[in-house]
Amino acid sequence: MTMTKRKVVVTRQLIDEAQILLDAKREELEVVQWQSEKPCDRSWLLDNAKDATGILVMLSDKVDEELLEAAGSQLKAIASFSVGTDHVDRDALRKRKIRLGYTPTCLTDAVADLTIMLILMAQRRGGESIAKVMKGEWPQMPWHPLLMTGPQIRGSTVGFLGFGRIAQASLQRLLPFGIKRVIYLTSKPGQLAKEDHFGLIKDCAIPIEPAQSADRLAKESDVVVVGCALTSSTKHLVSTDFFNKMKKLAVIVNIARGPVIDTDALVKALDEEQIFGAGLDVIENEPNIQADHPILKQPRCVLVPHIGSATIETREQMAMESVKNLLAGLTGEPMVNEVEL
Ligand code: DGY
Repeated sequence: MTMTKRKVVVTRQLIDEAQILLDAKREELEVVQWQSEKPCDRSWLLDNAKDATGILVMLSDKVDEELLEAAGSQLKAIASFSVGTDHVDRDALRKRKIRLGYTPTCLTDAVADLTIMLILMAQRRGGESIAKVMKGEWPQMPWHPLLMTGPQIRGSTVGFLGFGRIAQASLQRLLPFGIKRVIYLTSKPGQLAKEDHFGLIKDCAIPIEPAQSADRLAKESDVVVVGCALTSSTKHLVSTDFFNKMKKLAVIVNIARGPVIDTDALVKALDEEQIFGAGLDVIENEPNIQADHPILKQPRCVLVPHIGSATIETREQMAMESVKNLLAGLTGEPMVNEVEL
C-alpha cells in the first residue's frame, strides 16, 4: 500500500546541514522548495501551498489569511526563519490551531554585535568618514582637532525601546564601554523587565531603570536603541514628536523593524540637526530603497541592508532550527522555539 507523502513548502534554498536534514526526509515528505536566490514569488507560494502540512518561510514572506486559505485545512505548522514574526498573522494561525516556530535565541549575539557597530558608527561618524575617503576627499580635509568629532560612548545614558533578549545582550556588550545609565521602555511603561536574560539587571554596577514613557526616554538618552517588536502600538513610535524631545547630540539605532521609526521624521530630524546621527539595520519599505532615497542624502545616517543576523554561524543555526521546527510541527513534537499564540 502506498502512503501519500505529506507536503512541505520551503521558500528558500537552505544551508549545509539544514538542507541535508530536510533532504533526508524526502522519503516520507514531498518537499517543494523555491529554487532561486531571489525572494520567493508570492504567486508561486500561493500555488504551491495547496495541500501543504508545513511551510518554512522567511521574514519577507507574508503569512496571512490568503496563504492559509490557499494551503487548506490540513496545514499544521509554520516555521519562520526569523526572530521577528510581524509578517505572520498570529490571530489567523490561532484560529486554525496552526503552530508557529521561530528562531529567537540563536541570532541574539549576531544582532547585539551589530547594534554596537551601529551605535559606534553613528556616534563616531563612521559612514560619513568612509564616504569622504572613498570619494577622494581626504586631501581636502587634513587632520585637525575637530575633524569628524562626535559624542563619546563612555558616560552615555542608553535608552532601549524594547528590552528583550537582543537589547539585554547589547547592554552586556555596552557595559565595558563605561556607559553611565540605562533606561528602558517595554509594553508596560514603568514596570520592571519581565526577564533578566543574562543576570545583568539585578545588581548591575550602573542604574538600569524602566522609563515611565517614551517621552522620558527620548529626553534622557544619549543613545536610543530600537529593539521592540513591530505591532500596531509600536508603528511610528519614533516620530517627529519623539525626535523633538531628543538631545541634539543623541543618536538612534534601529535593529528591530523599519516602521517603528517614521522615516520622514528621521530625515527631518537629521536635516534640522535635531539629533546627531542614526544607525539603521532596517527601514520602512525595505528593500526598496533606491539611490535617490532622502535617507541616503543624510551623511550622519548609516544604513545597512538588514544584516543583523548575518553571520555564517548564525544563519546556519537559524536554518537548522527552522527545519527542526518545521518537522516538529508536522509530528506534534516540541519545537526548538515556538511562539505562544
Ligand atoms: C529577524 O530574524 O527577525 C531579524 O530581523 C534578524 O535580524
